[in-house]
Order: sequence, then structure tokens, then C-alpha cells
Amino acid sequence: MNREEFQSLSMRILNSEASDAETQRHELLCNTEDWAKPEFIHLKETHKLLVGTLPHLSGGSIHQDPISSEALDKLVTGVRNQQPLAGTTRAEGEIYENLVRKIKNLPTLPIVIDVINKALQKEDANTLDVEELMSGDKSLTTTVLRVANSAHFGLPQRVFSLNQAISIMGFNDVQQIVLTASVISSFGNVSNSFFTLHNFWRHSIGVAIATSQIGKELGIGGEDRTLYTCGLLHDIGKVGNLLLDTKGYLQLIQKSMKTGICLDQLEKEEVFPEHSMLGEAICERWQLPSKIHRAIRIHHELDAERRGPLPEEINQAADCIYLADQFVRENKFGYSGNAGSTTLATAVLKRLGLHAIQLEQIRRSVEDKLAEAHGLLDVLPREAGVA
Ligand SMILES: [Fe+2]
Ligand SMILES: [Fe+2]
Repeated sequence: MNREEFQSLSMRILNSEASDAETQRHELLCNTEDWAKPEFIHLKETHKLLVGTLPHLSGGSIHQDPISSEALDKLVTGVRNQQPLAGTTRAEGEIYENLVRKIKNLPTLPIVIDVINKALQKEDANTLDVEELMSGDKSLTTTVLRVANSAHFGLPQRVFSLNQAISIMGFNDVQQIVLTASVISSFGNVSNSFFTLHNFWRHSIGVAIATSQIGKELGIGGEDRTLYTCGLLHDIGKVGNLLLDTKGYLQLIQKSMKTGICLDQLEKEEVFPEHSMLGEAICERWQLPSKIHRAIRIHHELDAERRGPLPEEINQAADCIYLADQFVRENKFGYSGNAGSTTLATAVLKRLGLHAIQLEQIRRSVEDKLAEAHGLLDVLPREAGVA
């Protein structure tokens, strides 16, 4: 293949017209031929989406020319650097909003969740209201009863109706079960020798339980379920990435496993959408409270200055998620695809005012809660096929 043929093949790859064999040949040339190296990159599915969503490229001219890896890098870094990370990053926000729009099969949260949340927030909410609200969603009701009867909750008697569940467990526990069951059963499954969504959700439930436990120990977060929800959804952007480019993102997960490099760092290095930002955009799309999506956005940003000016409760929620994530990974409770180090960042411990003894107490109480939650996920439905 000469240089001209190589250029035209690059174009056909960009336009998704090349065969697998041609793409492999292209990759080989990129790795072996000097003239191929500096100029061309064969774009992953997500790279194409990312480039396609950059506002100033909406004219599409970039799709008509081969794009160098350097140019792509500059482009994305340029957009990222336009605003501080946690400020109002319009350009970046637009990219992620557009990416979320491109996720085919992104489930909508059942309307019943919103209605139940509102009903449960009313002081005079009564069991009949909730029973009536959920009566339209039989499978959700069945799941909630199955979870309520699981060993995790250790109820003194078996419950057969939501009324019974609410009167024995209370509104808050039932709300937590409804949310967990709805989110998990909304997504399909992806299964691979080194990664499964089942294990991913185990990680997410673990982080949800740990985040709310840490909040309780530190007197942060109050009585509501916000910290639990932050923990449950903190890595939802990874599911978004899997839906956008299953093969590419699984390769990234595998790379994290092989190298021990954090997945969030690899996303930046390999120009993948960052799961924290994508997660924020998904939660915004679901119209969850802004406290939740803003905390999710910064859960991997440990530098307070780079987070930008944010209310204290959001910084604290993000720090609780971070700590919970490290504890859960330390305990190997599920697996979210991140094989990076679990060493705790001193900046976070300092911000939360945690000394060694208190940290150990919290670690132990989280481990106890995780042990209790062991069989929780097994009672939730599992479905097949990610896309
Ligand atoms: Fe994460
Ligand atoms: Fe995580």
C-alpha cells in the first residue's frame, strides 16, 4: 500500500466503510511505517462521537479529512481547558449532553420513582398512597418484596404486601429498595471473562451503602437518601461508555487491569468520555437533584482548587463517595472495571477531618455493613444483552 492508498483508507475508516481486515492493515501500518505514524489515527467509535459533538466542528468538515492523533488531542484539551472543571463549562457540557443523546438504549427511570420520592417527602405520606402509586408497576412491586424479604434486611416475618413492608421497614428503606431495583433492572447485562454488569452493580450497591454509612458516621448528609443515591449512581457514566462503545470501553477496562492504572486516568489518556462527566450528564437527563449530579461530576477530582467553587455539602458528598469507593474496592465487593490503587488520598482525609483512629472505626463499620449486604444483589432481576 502506498501513501495515497493509505490516506484513502484512512478516510474510509473514518467513514466506517472499511472492512475489519483493512482496519487491521491500517493499524499495522500506523505502528510500523514512519510516514503513517505522525499523521493518522484510526478513530475509535467514541472518538468519532466526541469529535462529532464538538460545537465548533458541527459543520462536519473534520469528517472529510483524516485527523491526526495530535490534532484530536489538542481539540479535546482545548475544549476542556476553556473553563475550570467545576464551573459552568458550556462547551464541555454541550459535548456530554450530546453524547448522552447519542446513547441508544439509555433507559428512562420509571416515572413511579419520581412520584414515590415526592410522596415519601410529604410528611403525611401514608402507606396507601405508596401502594396505590406502585400498583401500576407489578414487576417493580414483586422485586421490592423480594428484596425486602432478603436476608439483608433480616425482617422478623415475611412480608407479602407493600403496606406490610412499609409498616415494618419504614418509608426510607422502601424508598431505597425501589430506587436500587429500578435502576438495576432498567439496564441489560454485559458479560465478559473479566467484566460483568452484575459485578459492576455489586460495586455500585457497595459504594451506595458505604457512602451513606460514612455520611452517618461523620454527621454529613442528614436523613434523606441523597448520599445513598450518589453512591449508587457514581459510576453510571461507565455504563454510558459501555453503551456508546462496548468493545472500546471493555478494552480500556482490560488495560486498567493489566497496568494497574486508574480507569479515569486511562479515559483521559485515551480520549474516552470521562465517566464522571458522562455520569453527570445522564443524571441531569434523568432530572435528579443537582446535588447528586454535581457530586458525581467531581468524584475523581481530589484537588479542591480544580473542583472550583462549590457548596460545602457537594464537596463533602464527593469526598464520601471517594472514600466509599476505595473501601469497597479494598474489600473486593464487586468490580467496576477500575484496577487503580486504593491508597487513600491525604487531601480527602484532611478535608473530612479524619484521623487514624476515626478512619479505622469508619472502615470497620463500612465492612460490617458490606458483610450484611452480601446477598442483596442476588435477589434482583438480571437481564441479557447490553444493547
Ligand atoms: Fe468512578
Ligand atoms: Fe466506583
